[in-house]
Amino acid sequence: MAKHDHRRVIAIDGPAAAGKTTVAKELADSLGILLFDTGSLYRSVTLRSLRKGADLNDEQAIAKQAKKAKIKLKAPSIEDGRSADVMLDGEDVTWAIRQPDVDANVSKVAAYPTVREALLEVQRENADGSAVVMVGRDIGTVVTPDAGTKIYLDATVEERARRRYQDMRRQGEDMDYISVLEELRERDFKDSTRATAPLRVADDAIHIKTDGLDVEDIVGQIEKIVREQWASIA
Ligand code: DC
Repeated sequence: MAKHDHRRVIAIDGPAAAGKTTVAKELADSLGILLFDTGSLYRSVTLRSLRKGADLNDEQAIAKQAKKAKIKLKAPSIEDGRSADVMLDGEDVTWAIRQPDVDANVSKVAAYPTVREALLEVQRENADGSAVVMVGRDIGTVVTPDAGTKIYLDATVEERARRRYQDMRRQGEDMDYISVLEELRERDFKDSTRATAPLRVADDAIHIKTDGLDVEDIVGQIEKIVREQWASIA
């Protein structure tokens, strides 16, 4: 870890549908820096595993997929709401990794310690020496515990379900609120009880509860913290 410099890393962690991606995208735009959504890595490994017919219950088979996958995040080439182009083995999978079959299986894949290990160094290297917004579950606790700024974004599960439900409705998907709420509760449970790198608030993270706040308020609050922190770096 000592060889990396993560002082300008802004780690944003928190549960599913807490608004991390929306906030991180606005923050990265406002600061003029990169956004690295680390969930894309776990999603890409899940997609590759599904496509190759790998057994999702077999950790070693999935770890092999993680090691073989060539995943790259690039600045967005199309303005269709994406925060980055996610490239998997040379193919643009930005939207493929957001499909329900990946949603349904990604928590299982992300719980495997050997998969997490395979994806750790690529995250640390991407963060090294850069001003970057890193979004995930374990950025402030495991990936870059030395990040200069750590934010934990949270909201009640009902509020998160309401936001996700509205997003889905906007995208024309037909799902009821109760199913969305139940799916989120299950994801929360899996993400926070897994043995390796569970979702938790880093001791030195700033915990922001976003119920009732709008995106601009949250981004403004974080930007102020970041600018103060950066001013203290020689
Ligand atoms: O944020 P997301 O919905 O794209 O994350 C997809 C899954 O990956 C979710 O189950 C949590 C997991 N994840 C993780 O374990 N660690 C990260 N740094 C990012 C995501």
